[in-house]
Amino acid sequence: MERFKICHRSELPPGQMRYVEIDGLPIGLANVAGTIYAFSDSCRHEGGPLSAGVLIEHTVTCPWHGWTYDVRTGKSIVPPVGLRIATYPVEVIDDEIFIIIDWPEV
Ligand code: FES
Repeated sequence: MERFKICHRSELPPGQMRYVEIDGLPIGLANVAGTIYAFSDSCRHEGGPLSAGVLIEHTVTCPWHGWTYDVRTGKSIVPPVGLRIATYPVEVIDDEIFIIIDWPEV
């Protein structure tokens, strides 16, 4: 398990998203009313960049064809319901945002 410092909280204001890549892993971050969520930035349809899409409350809509996910759970909320994208734990320490990645065993 590794903790990665992403940015200062002021760099991700409420209602905004941000893209980061950690060791080749594409990750989107969203600030929903002050709570930060981290999720796979690769849409389950054709890999669209979710953080370039639209954030409305807790949902992110892919900019390519409109698949929509709940950033809290990663679950798709439009058909095909049941798919999910990965989500990652977030910590905010002294207004700095960190993501926790639990790399798979190799
Ligand atoms: S790639 Fe996201 S909806 Fe098609």
